[in-house]
Amino acid sequence: MLSLETTATAAYVVAALLFILALAGLSKHETSRAGNTFGIAGMAVALIATIALALARHIEPVGLGLLVGAMVIGAVIGLWRARIVEMTGMPELIALLHSFVGLAAVLVGWNGYLHVERELGGAEALQLGREGMLGIHSAEVFIGVFIGGVTFTGSVVANLKLSARMKSAPLMLPGKNFLNVGALVVFVALTVWFVIDPQLWLLIAVTVLALLLGWHLVASIGGGDMPVVVSMLNSYSGWAAAASGFLLGNDLLIITGALVGSSGAYLSYIMCKAMNRSFISVIAGGFGIEAGPADDTDYGEPREITAESAAELLANAHSVIITPGYGMAVAQAQYGVAELTRRLRQSGVNVRFGIHPVAGRLPGHMNVLLAEAKVPYDIVLEMDEINDDFDDTDVVLVIGANDTVNPAATEDPNSPIAGMPVLTVWNARNVIVFKRSMASGYAGVQNPLFFRENTQMLFGDAKDRVDAINAALSVSAKV
Ligand code: TAP
Repeated sequence: MLSLETTATAAYVVAALLFILALAGLSKHETSRAGNTFGIAGMAVALIATIALALARHIEPVGLGLLVGAMVIGAVIGLWRARIVEMTGMPELIALLHSFVGLAAVLVGWNGYLHVERELGGAEALQLGREGMLGIHSAEVFIGVFIGGVTFTGSVVANLKLSARMKSAPLMLPGKNFLNVGALVVFVALTVWFVIDPQLWLLIAVTVLALLLGWHLVASIGGGDMPVVVSMLNSYSGWAAAASGFLLGNDLLIITGALVGSSGAYLSYIMCKAMNRSFISVIAGGFGIEAGPADDTDYGEPREITAESAAELLANAHSVIITPGYGMAVAQAQYGVAELTRRLRQSGVNVRFGIHPVAGRLPGHMNVLLAEAKVPYDIVLEMDEINDDFDDTDVVLVIGANDTVNPAATEDPNSPIAGMPVLTVWNARNVIVFKRSMASGYAGVQNPLFFRENTQMLFGDAKDRVDAINAALSVSAKV
């Protein structure tokens, strides 16, 4: 007969396999739902197995009560938050969840220290020390607390920046690169010291150091690089969980942490490549990125257009490209945009969409919204597929997008977004920009597109403006 302990360990293997299947499923649109289901099943198996293991190890009733209580409270809060979160609020929610993993790793590390290094009697500690095990344990505690601390404050700052409760411009402390590298050197030195002599003050010192470093690393990164930061923090949270797994002797936590850590690192790398950013400079807190001079160029006055004139321009066009951005999500304008697309296509206009890889606030944001509004997949094209076609386009509708269509990225080497690939909408014959004001986009950078000769601004909420164009089209004889 299998013991409870053996069964629970076998269940861990099943959960690990389900997590791998989840990742595989999430890598494609068609299999993503199945991937999600595998992930949920894996997590359910892991939770049940963890409780079973605790029972097998004769957990005290108080401990069991705390375990179940914490799970119930966590599940209620998690379900409630996930139900009410808006699509546009997902990145900040994810950042907040990463901060919990970081905090948990710090607490697990501290618990490990108080339980082993501080509490073990002299003889036991001496025995562990003789076997070389105490040093390994101390190193695990120290590294786990460090990674957890960096992840915790880094994720809190990411949450504050993404929710606009903190300025998205990079913090530029003097000698910021020196501060980051210095903190790493101090960490290595303190680790060696702690392994030789695990004193409490060293653990306090590394906790404070990690919290400050996490804060500084993410605060130093500008808004334009935030997507990479979110996936990088995802990776850090994985490594923090793996470090806790070593401390707790929990194989599943090690496997899951390594999966999250490596997939997050790879995603960050792919995103850096897509945005032409240096991976090292982003993970090192904007290393080598210096603030450019403030943009005080006088671009002149932008030209305005009315919804009726925009409708007329569209009705007379042969080819139209729509480049949506975060503002379309905020305004929930996708349904009106789908309606406009249908009308124009019915009257023979070639309408396509150009999607920038970081348009919106999370990968695939625009694709999900357009699919929700039933815009056909085959006219929704990636940036690389459509960028050469703008020259041959009559009208581009920039709907609530800003940084992703900013010519400064290609033309101004001092711009904070210099080098980032953008949709070259300004090459079209006419550009209509939908936004509410002249405010800058997420990266906090001025956009010279708004002042170009072939650009006209259609001010107002994107949904209202698109609806007004639809109304104007329906009264016009042409469409
Ligand atoms: P942004 O550059 O943020 O520009 C959004 C524009 O929408 C703003 O100009 C804003 O101007 C306008 N807007 C907001 N609400 C509106 C409404 N109700 N009606 C009409 N317009 C509205 O967006 P983007 O071009 O999509 O670029 C994405 C940015 O977010 C990039 O900097 C990217 O790096 C960053 N980011 C992306 C991600 C991912 S993974 N996609 C994650 C985090 C950050 P007004 O305020 O004047 O209306």
